[in-house]
Amino acid sequence: MKSADHAKIRVWDLFVRFFHWTLVVAVSAAAYSGFLLGGTWISAHIWAGSVATALILARLLWGIWGSPYARFGNFVKGPRAALEHVRELRSGAGERHLGHNPLGALMILALITTILLLALSGTVGLGGVFKVGPFGFATTYQFGNTTLSLHKLLAIWLLVLVGLHIAGAVFEGLRTRENLVKAMVTGYKEAEPGEIEQPAGKARPLLVTSLFTALAAMLFWGGATLASRPAPDLPPVGEAAFDVTYADECSACHIAYNPSLMGEKSWTLLMSNLSDHFGEDASLDPATTEELTRWLAANAAETVDTKPAHMLRHMADNAPFTITETPFWKLTHKNIPDTVFTRPPVYDNGNCAACHSDAESGRFYPANISIPKENQK
Ligand code: HEC
Ligand code: HEC
Repeated sequence: MKSADHAKIRVWDLFVRFFHWTLVVAVSAAAYSGFLLGGTWISAHIWAGSVATALILARLLWGIWGSPYARFGNFVKGPRAALEHVRELRSGAGERHLGHNPLGALMILALITTILLLALSGTVGLGGVFKVGPFGFATTYQFGNTTLSLHKLLAIWLLVLVGLHIAGAVFEGLRTRENLVKAMVTGYKEAEPGEIEQPAGKARPLLVTSLFTALAAMLFWGGATLASRPAPDLPPVGEAAFDVTYADECSACHIAYNPSLMGEKSWTLLMSNLSDHFGEDASLDPATTEELTRWLAANAAETVDTKPAHMLRHMADNAPFTITETPFWKLTHKNIPDTVFTRPPVYDNGNCAACHSDAESGRFYPANISIPKENQK
């Protein structure tokens, strides 16, 4: 135990500092990929979120068994202490806290809770909308979609909290004339006369920390890998269950479009006039036409719970059976230059498989998108 004028007190242990700055990187990466990079970066986004969540889980354990200033019991004091602290600040007599002050402590709790809620809403949303990850089989598209809206609100809320957290640190730094950022790097604060360091207690920092971090990282490694892999089949049209006649007859000029990409009415209309099919004669004998019409109707968008099935079934009035004329298709592809669709190897905007490696399954998972370079096979 030390007690001396201008002695240095080790406030933030190695794990807290590692946790703090790695969390800054992980949250920044998640925010950047989520808000600015868009769908095709979904895997990077899942990774960033998983790392942030693993860090939070390790921090929760460290808050119980960690070094003195890291323990929740030592700085979480409840709303009354926070109000008291505000009152002191307003009268200009706020005392300095070596660890988190009561307001700072509330902020830590708010940040931790928000990040955990983000992880939960992200995983549930991903499961419902894209049918991947731990909730892939249990959640509906509608529920997932609503959860993703909540996820976005929480993400904005997290940015607000981060802003307040930074403002609080600046304010507190000016008020107490301490460099708080430096303290979070070196771990040390200057002691004032009479201030003594809390006894280290029984923490075994390095060993315990590495254990927690490794454990949490492994847990989320598994989770994230699972989450970024599309589910093996989608009821009721898995890849194995593709109708043989359909796959044969309707893939001569373009890919065999998954029946879930259009509604029943659109398929029936399309099949009723195959002799004039987008300017081509695609007619089949009546029995085959009837058989395929029935199969398409039985597996149309209304029967499948994927994102494309929900979004693409809304047809444009003037094109009742053209996927590439739907408002959703046009909106999602509006940033791709027309020349990309006409040059090899894409040739046509209906050639979904050129850019979506999972086009035939009807999934169109964002991580499976890549625009081929000119002439690339
Ligand atoms: C003789 C060639 C040919 C055959 C066979 C054919 N199609 Fe087509 N299909 C076309 C052409 C050409 C287009 C228009 C492509 C474009 O403009 O994107 C088209 C477009 C489509 C579209 C709209 C795609 C879009 O761009 O939104 C659907 C859906 C479709 N075909 C379904 C079928 C089905 C179902 C069958 C089997 C019964 C079939 N096609 C067989 C030539 C063919
Ligand atoms: C030239 C390449 C290309 C072709 C061809 C193409 N797409 Fe896309 N598609 C993209 C890109 C790139 C995106 C992502 C746009 C973004 O997120 O900014 C996308 C996004 C999508 C999405 C949304 C994915 C999501 O949930 O975020 C769907 C659904 C989709 N495409 C369906 C289709 C269908 C159906 C076809 C064929 C009729 C098709 N695409 C043809 C490049 C292509």
